[in-house]
Amino acid sequence: MSALLPVYERDLVLVSGRGARVFDSSGRGYLDFAAGIGVNGLGYGDRAVVAAIRRQASRLIHASNLYHTEPAAALAERLVSLAFPAKVFLCNSGTEAGESAIKFARKIGRPRGRSELVAFERSFHGRTLGTLSITWSAKYREPFEPLIPGVRFCPWDDLAAAAAAIGPATAAVAVEPVQGEGGVRPASPEFLRGLASLCRERGALLVVDEVQCGLGRTGRLFAYQHAGITPDILTLAKPLGGGLPLGAVLLRDELAGGIAVGDHGSTFGGNPVAAAAALAVLERVTAEGFIEEVAGKGAFLLKGLLRIAKKHPGAVAQVRGLGLMLGVELKGPAGPVLKGLRERGVLATKAGDNVLRLLPPLVIKRSEIRAFLESLDAVLQEQTSAAA
Ligand SMILES: Cc1ncc(COP(=O)(O)O)c(C=O)c1O
Repeated sequence: MSALLPVYERDLVLVSGRGARVFDSSGRGYLDFAAGIGVNGLGYGDRAVVAAIRRQASRLIHASNLYHTEPAAALAERLVSLAFPAKVFLCNSGTEAGESAIKFARKIGRPRGRSELVAFERSFHGRTLGTLSITWSAKYREPFEPLIPGVRFCPWDDLAAAAAAIGPATAAVAVEPVQGEGGVRPASPEFLRGLASLCRERGALLVVDEVQCGLGRTGRLFAYQHAGITPDILTLAKPLGGGLPLGAVLLRDELAGGIAVGDHGSTFGGNPVAAAAALAVLERVTAEGFIEEVAGKGAFLLKGLLRIAKKHPGAVAQVRGLGLMLGVELKGPAGPVLKGLRERGVLATKAGDNVLRLLPPLVIKRSEIRAFLESLDAVLQEQTSAAA
């Protein structure tokens, strides 16, 4: 493993998985509350996804975007039917979806002299130079500056600050309805509605980044639906391809005329195997009762976390989130808690230094949520006792 460029801190070697459990190279199983950082929405080894991948792989693995393929065309249609009237650009990752959204917004804004972008404190939109430019954390940005110019960051959930920043040169405002990396922070519905109105009134485009919070995670198919708004541009990725690399950008129909042949492209984008997997994912996620069940399990997990927060007031500062995207802000670093969880056979991840970020597979069982809560309670108990 040592030939890999060490841009990640890691040691576990994972080899297989089933449902919400993943197994390492020594055969040890873990209950996975990180789910491939929100990718494995249907858990590991979902039969319909595996079958769709097998079927498509045996027919056509790749064709390039010089040609149409049936899965990519069907996926674009399905996304539009679920979201809003739009044209779809398919790509390979969340950062590529964000980068594409920035390019589209700037191309569309160009005839009106609009090239600037507004983003928010604690935002995360990706690691390319474009998406990094609208990503807030100095740690990620500074080593790569200068980035693209004309970006303003506003305080989160502060409509007055956004109103002051959106001007005649603003091409787009980028927002995550629930900030993920930034600490699992849901935007208030009023804030999202206010941003949508400001963008409409002032001629800027609203880019909604649902790479992490989209496709059922928050208890609605799209997180923007909680606020009853419609984005101008929507970005999706993580769970879309059922574990295969796939991103999508939806550009509202009326805007699509601003993008012409040759403006953008991707050799692999909309790969037929990934698109076939995505169709299977969407079928599962939109099946009757599936998302309601996510909302119910999210409420169940939240209730358990609030109980734990009450029991360990010295350790937990706040619990927040939406659906099965929940964060536990700790009063100390998250690292030791994650380590304690792992020793008990539970994987989770963090957002920033002190927020436990919980993104279990959407198919998680209530018994598994209960097991997770017991482990977290025990770890916090152990650490409180050790500190006393
Ligand atoms: C909201 C959001 N946007 C964009 C990205 C970038 O996605 P990717 O890692 O697939 O490039 C992420 C990744 O965590 C994300 O959470």
